[in-house]
Amino acid sequence: YVIGVDLGTSAVKVLLINQDGVVTQEVSKDYPLYQERTGYSEQDPRDWVDQTIKALSDLTRQFEGDPTDIEGISFSGQMHGLVLLDDRNEVLRNAILWNDTRTTQECNEIYERVGKDRLLDITKNLALEGFTLPKILWVKNNEPDLFKEAQTFVLPKDYVRYRLTDMLHMEYSDAAGTLLMDVKQKEWSREICETLDIHPDICPPLVHSFDEVGTITSEVAEMTGLNPSTRVFAGGADNACGAIGAGILEEGKTMASIGTSGVVLSYEESGDKDFQGKAHYFNHGTRDGYYTMGVTLAAGYSLSWFKDVFAKDVAFEELLAEVDTVPPGSNGLLFTPYIVGERTPHVDPDIRGSFIGMDASHRMEHFARSVMEGITFSLKESLEIFRESGKTIDTVVSIGGGAKNESWLQLQADIFNTRVVKLTSEQGPGMGAAMLAAYGCGWFETLNHCADAFLKEEKIYEPNVENATIYEELFELYQQVYSSTASLNR
Ligand code: XUL
Repeated sequence: YVIGVDLGTSAVKVLLINQDGVVTQEVSKDYPLYQERTGYSEQDPRDWVDQTIKALSDLTRQFEGDPTDIEGISFSGQMHGLVLLDDRNEVLRNAILWNDTRTTQECNEIYERVGKDRLLDITKNLALEGFTLPKILWVKNNEPDLFKEAQTFVLPKDYVRYRLTDMLHMEYSDAAGTLLMDVKQKEWSREICETLDIHPDICPPLVHSFDEVGTITSEVAEMTGLNPSTRVFAGGADNACGAIGAGILEEGKTMASIGTSGVVLSYEESGDKDFQGKAHYFNHGTRDGYYTMGVTLAAGYSLSWFKDVFAKDVAFEELLAEVDTVPPGSNGLLFTPYIVGERTPHVDPDIRGSFIGMDASHRMEHFARSVMEGITFSLKESLEIFRESGKTIDTVVSIGGGAKNESWLQLQADIFNTRVVKLTSEQGPGMGAAMLAAYGCGWFETLNHCADAFLKEEKIYEPNVENATIYEELFELYQQVYSSTASLNR
């Protein structure tokens, strides 16, 4: 057996997986999110550790085998969150999370001092409020006394792993989201640190996702019931682990994940393409791989917002049951899902969403379908960025809530104009973390072999040529909506 720990924003989920890749046990524990001011989003890293230990101990208590049968453990973590540690590796303040947006001024400071082109050269990414470097600068600018005490910074799952092993590391896939790493060279950028007066020593040693970093401490073994010789592997960013868990492990593989937010992610073998920041470009959890990623902030959230406001008493299943009675294009009704700002392709926190093309004949099912279409168009915009870089995308693996609904799976095939694959019992980033442990333990020669053994296709959705043609035309109109409505927020 191996364990995959998925440290999310609302809860930690631990999965026990056997040698066939089957999840035999699952435990989840939540923790609070502190949003004390508009734009603030923090968590106490000690809550993550306590709840992970509780989840692991529940898991071993229910486990009928011998603890020595659990060979390895690895981690997936929410990205970008800043955990600052002092010289005894004690937490200095609450972690500032990926969805905290207090750092606009610091993003501008990075552009002014490092230069946007140089930042893109080194990190391949834009300075976004959510990323780690702007948060480090925010603490430096606003809490200078506390910052003086900072000896090291780590990301959320690295802190949990540190507390389980006493070994402090960061791995490439998460380090890529800090804006402090040279993504191609896979080393910390002295240039960025020095330009911004950040001591390079605050950056911890870097390892690969599948590297073994130690075993669990005897104290943690006692608290969790795990065997002290359980091998611990570094793990990866949640998007990297989500991709591993969906088998996105070689050039030509792409996935679309529709959860609260939506992600389109495609494997890249090279760390040296130039997307000019139009998509995120991070190191993967494989030895030399990368991935590009586009994010739609309100994907599933657009649909739940719509239901809350306009169809509160209707069950989700009921709302979606009718969407197939509406023709593709929702009889001229078009939705753009920019209801909480956007990341890809429009980096704009003030952008607004819209319904256009309303007609008195439109009913609830037209609106529901157009919301699903608008979300999927937004994801297609990310796919188009990847295609413009010369990539062929003919198959997309669909995961998350959007992969649980037949109509939405077909709609993705028609709008993306690709084959869409649904996996059996898809398990998200926790599965990717467990696969890193399985590969690290030597169960498989490569991660790809592990994916072949663990992941199975359940169903393939082929695009309907007629629908795809309708959607190609509508997509052109969709793409014009942002530029014609961008001034609405002022
Ligand atoms: C990625 C990002 C989110 C978090 C969520 O850039 O900000 O997907 O990783 O956990």
